[in-house]
Order: sequence, then structure tokens, then C-alpha cells
Amino acid sequence: MKKTALFLSLLVVIAFISYKMIADDTALFSSIDISETNLSTADNILNPQNNLQDSSNLEPDFEPAATETSPPTHTQTPVSTPELTSTSVPSGSPGSTPTPKPSSEPVSSSAETTTPTEPPAISISLEEALNIIPPEYQQLSYFNHEFAVRYVVYKELNPDFDYEKVITYVNIGLDFPFYSNINTISDTNRIDVLVNKYNKLPDHFVPQLEQLPASICAPGTGNHYLRKEAKEAFEKMHYDAKKLGLNITAVSTYRSIELQNRIWNKKVKSGRTVADVDRLNARGGHSEHNTGLAIDVIKNNYTVENTAEYKWYKDNAHLYGFIIRYQKGKENITGYSYEPWHLRYLGPELANEVYNSGLTYEEYYAKMLGH
Ligand code: DAL
Ligand code: ZN
Repeated sequence: MKKTALFLSLLVVIAFISYKMIADDTALFSSIDISETNLSTADNILNPQNNLQDSSNLEPDFEPAATETSPPTHTQTPVSTPELTSTSVPSGSPGSTPTPKPSSEPVSSSAETTTPTEPPAISISLEEALNIIPPEYQQLSYFNHEFAVRYVVYKELNPDFDYEKVITYVNIGLDFPFYSNINTISDTNRIDVLVNKYNKLPDHFVPQLEQLPASICAPGTGNHYLRKEAKEAFEKMHYDAKKLGLNITAVSTYRSIELQNRIWNKKVKSGRTVADVDRLNARGGHSEHNTGLAIDVIKNNYTVENTAEYKWYKDNAHLYGFIIRYQKGKENITGYSYEPWHLRYLGPELANEVYNSGLTYEEYYAKMLGH
């Protein structure tokens, strides 16, 4: 009897332990399944067919005609870029001596070289820097006392530049390699927001968007979204151009930060170097397409400059509030190759000023809008 009781107790204990093990395993599996299912489901919802009408099928360096095909939500999970080559370097705080590093970005042969390979042996205080910089340059509205040491160091590196250029370039951030010393933008909804390799949008940023009518979008490129102001201006430009027999359509518009990262990652994984990809594709949060204020209007891939449409919009887009953002021969400032198809909405007044200044938006911003 005693033996039977003991045997039965043993059976109960074994049964309990087995049950626990199975239950724990099930919980483990189900949690894995759930998270993976969630991931892939979210992935599909956010990016049907990955949303990538990837240009690599068209032209090796062509910016993807990718766009969001469903209205964006705030539930997106940003995908971070892979380990990057550049590292942050300390900014030139008053009294310190920053050590500018050579830019990691190859520049086109026509571009100016701003970063000699050897940084100069220079160690000065803020006071000394202010004594070196000619007083007339210190009167410039965009002269920033806090950057005085950086100005002097950058001038040492680029003796051919006058101080006006030195001050402008340092204000842009060009004394640091691209994708270093990055500022996270706080005024994300400003129409004049500067988004570039030194200024990124917060990871979860999603602008207020409106869908473009299909009639002003290139066929087969999916649904397109822009901020209301940019959408209305583009519609007006499209219809005015149409009266002249021109057909300016949206090929790529708003892209989420997540999609931007996917494009960048995909390009790098395709075998191109990071530097090569960086010349054409922004990293997530660093693209104007993430603001809902940028439109690619390219048609016929690289032959855009030969089109009657381009010949018209290069002289007229600013009247509607758009600038051609990445100009020829300015890669050392913008960080991007010439993109005649990439229009950025700034509003007619500002676009007109930037257009007439002949400056890149980086330079204009550093001189006129930087704070
Ligand atoms: N091609 C532009 C720079 C972008 O990716 O935003
Ligand atoms: Zn673009």
C-alpha cells in the first residue's frame, strides 16, 4: 500500500514536471512565432512588395522610384542602417581645438577639395581664434563666435578659401565628415527644414500627408503622398506645364524613414560601396523624401536634362516653390551627385530667393536661416 502511494506520488511529480516543460516550450515557441509574425506582417502592411520599384533594374545609380503605397502611420519601426564607416568627432566648442578629419566622401574631380589629408598642428583658444579672424568677417550676420576655433582650423586646412567661404562651410558642418556631428532636427514641420547628412529627422517622424491624384503621377509608380503645401504647388505646376504641352509627373515622393533605410541597405548589399551609395541615396532620416516635401520628376531615367519638361521646370519650378536641390558641381557641399529630377518644396518666396542666390540650400541656410 505504502509502495503504491509512493509510486503514485512519483507519477504525479513526473507528470507535473513534463507538463511544465511542455508549457514553457510552448510559451517560448509562441512568443517567437508571435514576434516573427508581427514583424513580417508589419513589414507587409508598411511595404507591400517591399514598396521598392527598385531602380537597380533600370539604371545602376538611379534613385529608386520607391514610394509609400499605403498611408503612413506612426507605428513604423525604423530599421537602422548597418555599421557605418564614419564616426563622430567632437565639435569645436569654445576654447577647444577640434581635429577635422578628412572627409570619407569621395568628391567628383570637378569638386573643390576641402579636406587635406594631414590636419594642421594647431592648438588655439577661442580668444586666440578671435584675434586671428579679420574683424570684418566677425561682423557677418552668420558669424558664430562659438565656432571661431573651427573657422581658424578650417582656414588652415583650406588656405585658398576666403573667410566668408570658411565661415559658411563650417556653419554647414563641412569641417566634419559627412554623417558625423549629426544634429537631430527639432522643428520638423517647418517648410524650410534643412535635412541633409548633418541634420536628421527623429526616427519616428511622420509628416502630415495628402495623397496626390493619379493624374499627376507617373503611371505604374504606385500611390504618392506629399505635404499639403507641396502637393498643391505640384498640382498647379503640373497643370500649368500641361497647358504648354509638357507632362511633369511625380515618380517618387514621400518615403518613410524605414523605407529609406531599406533602400540604402539594399543598395549596399547589392555590392556597391558605401561611398557610392551615399552619393545617390540618403540614409534613413536624412532624406528630404522623409519630409513629404520632395518629389522626383525624372522621366526617361538619366536623360531628364534632354526633356522639354526639364528645360521648362529648371527656369520655372521656383515660381511654384520648388528648387532643384542637388546642383551640378556642388557634390562637396550637398554630399550628392547632381540630381536634376529632385525637386524640394520651400514655398514660392524662399524658393525664389534661393534660386536667385545661385547657392545650394546648405549655403543659403548657413548664411540666411541658420540660428
Ligand atoms: N537621392 C536623394 C538624395 C535621397 O535619397 O533623398
Ligand atoms: Zn529625390
